Amino acid sequence: MHDSGKILAGLVVFGALVTFPVWYHAAWGGPLVKPRLPADLAEKECIAPTAYMREHHMELLNSWRAQVVRDGHRSWTGENGRQWRASLTKTCLRCHANKADFCDTCHSSAGVKPVCFDCHVDPKGKN
Ligand code: HEC
Ligand code: HEC
Ligand code: HEC
Repeated sequence: MHDSGKILAGLVVFGALVTFPVWYHAAWGGPLVKPRLPADLAEKECIAPTAYMREHHMELLNSWRAQVVRDGHRSWTGENGRQWRASLTKTCLRCHANKADFCDTCHSSAGVKPVCFDCHVDPKGKN
């Protein structure tokens, strides 16, 4: 059994390689691909600080969905007091109109595939 150390080391290296995208993403904390915004976007800020959005946009979308679907409440106020309509298509994709370049590029590099657009409209997409 004197080879077990080598096997273990081999497994560790192999594991590190196959999970590379995951830990690289976690360690760097940024996207593997820099998401691009539309060149003509006049707005310079997201509805919440960029670092927060990068990590938590899915939770925000979930809570928007809950407030709309459960409570019929369609307005959301940001930290700075600005009011937004709680809507994936009408708010997020109004600024991030280039969904393919922005949301999709980042998601494919992170290996995520949200199913939202089976139902929700991407104004620039096929659906
Ligand atoms: C008013 C326009 C606007 C709206 C509405 C908006 N965003 Fe943003 N968003 C931006 C801008 C501008 C940035 C880049 C800010 C920067 O460079 O610091 C950004 C950044 C982001 C980022 C981080 C990108 C990165 O570089 O890591 C994510 C994720 C994001 N938005 C998702 C969303 C989602 C999801 C919604 C809807 C819940 C949304 N945004 C609504 C304008 C908007
Ligand atoms: C900076 C990279 C980045 C950008 C830009 C980005 N996302 Fe994400 N998104 C992620 C990552 C990473 C996850 C998976 C996180 C997790 O599972 O904790 C994710 C998860 C999600 C989820 C949850 C998916 C699920 O099946 O649970 C939704 C919904 C989502 N993103 C919507 C959007 C939308 C809409 C946009 C564009 C407006 C967008 N994201 C832009 C990185 C990004
Ligand atoms: C099976 C179809 C379906 C899927 C898949 C789906 N939704 Fe929805 N969603 C709906 C319907 C129907 C409503 C209610 C529409 C309304 O009242 O405006 C809604 C409402 C919402 C709302 C609030 C209203 C708006 O205009 O956006 C948000 C936010 C939302 N969903 C986010 C998501 C996210 C994020 C995903 C993916 C993780 C997702 N949904 C997947 C059908 C779907």
